[in-house]
Amino acid sequence: MPQDGSKFWNWMARRYAANPISDTAGYQRTLDLIAGHLGPESRVYEFGCGPGTTALRLAPDTASYFAVDYAERMITIAEERAAAAPPCPSLRFAVGHAQASGLAPASVDVAIGFNILHLLPDRPALHAEMLRILKPGGLLITKTPCLAEATPLLRLVLPVMRTLGFAPPAAFFTAAELAAEQRAAGFEIVQELRHGSKTPDRRIVLVARKSA
Ligand SMILES: C[S@@+](CC[C@H](N)C(=O)[O-])C[C@H]1O[C@@H](n2cnc3c(N)ncnc32)[C@H](O)[C@@H]1O
Repeated sequence: MPQDGSKFWNWMARRYAANPISDTAGYQRTLDLIAGHLGPESRVYEFGCGPGTTALRLAPDTASYFAVDYAERMITIAEERAAAAPPCPSLRFAVGHAQASGLAPASVDVAIGFNILHLLPDRPALHAEMLRILKPGGLLITKTPCLAEATPLLRLVLPVMRTLGFAPPAAFFTAAELAAEQRAAGFEIVQELRHGSKTPDRRIVLVARKSA
């Protein structure tokens, strides 16, 4: 059984990609929110893109959309899906680490991370990289499960699942704690909503702006 992050996600990739979106109304609402911040001139970086579900929907309306994931099998699936979709010259997938984009300073209008911040061992490093690559006034838009808001049993169950190889390493924090972390890093939170179309939902969508 895989024990660490990228091995886990490589192992999970085909199963993860085969899972349908569980709350299509909530997902569409979050996509609409992001699309409202994108335009034909937008340069976008998506980290932890998985099998490319979000990238394939958002990229056609952008100037460039660079999507990375550190699990090679996720990128293979994303590229297969892109090949089966209408051509999208702005979209490029690559194997890569979220916090090491390789992009030029101040070159990105919008950075997107869905369901990933809780998986990163070093969120401050990610926030620092986003502040480096975003243009002044650029946006970091994240959707994150806040595990500290789930049943307390999860704190007991998750380490066991992880030891058995059925869960990746994950951090526990609340939405308020995550927003405070992003403010402390130097972002202004300009929008905040719960992802799901039904309540309660522990997934928070944060739109964080780098100061202009
Ligand atoms: C829960 S999945 C989410 C995938 C996609 N964003 C979505 O919402 O469907 C988490 C993804 O983040 C990737 N990931 C985790 N840590 C990463 C890191 N440090 N750099 C790049 N990708 C990472 C995993 O490989 C996995 O594909």
